[in-house]
Amino acid sequence: MAPAQAHDVPVVPDSGIVPEKARGGIGIEINGERFRHEGDPQMPLLWYLRDVLRLTGTKYGGARGENGADLVLVNDKPVSAIAQPMAKLDGKRITTVEGLAANDGVLHPLQQAFIDEDAIGCGYCTPGWLIAGVDLLKRKPQPSDADIDRLPNTCRCGCQTRVRAAIKRAAAGRASQA
Ligand code: FES
Repeated sequence: MAPAQAHDVPVVPDSGIVPEKARGGIGIEINGERFRHEGDPQMPLLWYLRDVLRLTGTKYGGARGENGADLVLVNDKPVSAIAQPMAKLDGKRITTVEGLAANDGVLHPLQQAFIDEDAIGCGYCTPGWLIAGVDLLKRKPQPSDADIDRLPNTCRCGCQTRVRAAIKRAAAGRASQA
């Protein structure tokens, strides 16, 4: 058979558009920005946040996230970032502690209440408390002490009492205005 001539091949103009589904990797939204992870799909979200994006607010909270320091919101639900492989997060919306403040820098009322109540010791546990607290206030706008004590978070600096006061201050709408 004679080789195909160039004029036998239909010319399809290259639009430069790659359909989203045809692209590789894992697409996620973090604090309102879109990212695509093309590395190891088993990488825990915590390492992606800290080592790839340098969002270091979220802390290591134990191998299973047992002390709550690694909590983030995934589609508005608190989850342990160490326990979430990137493979499970395609198309998900994630909020970390860095995403709680408004775009103009005004702190979330719960962040402000933590400052007002001096509820921060070394600060290691604080991002996890904030994420868990934001979720709690959404589920229970007036949480009891018991509701707060049921959160998975712990504080080695002994700030639990002030954390409780901060969550209640935010619930009462008494966080000071920046
Ligand atoms: S403020 Fe230090 S562990 Fe909580």
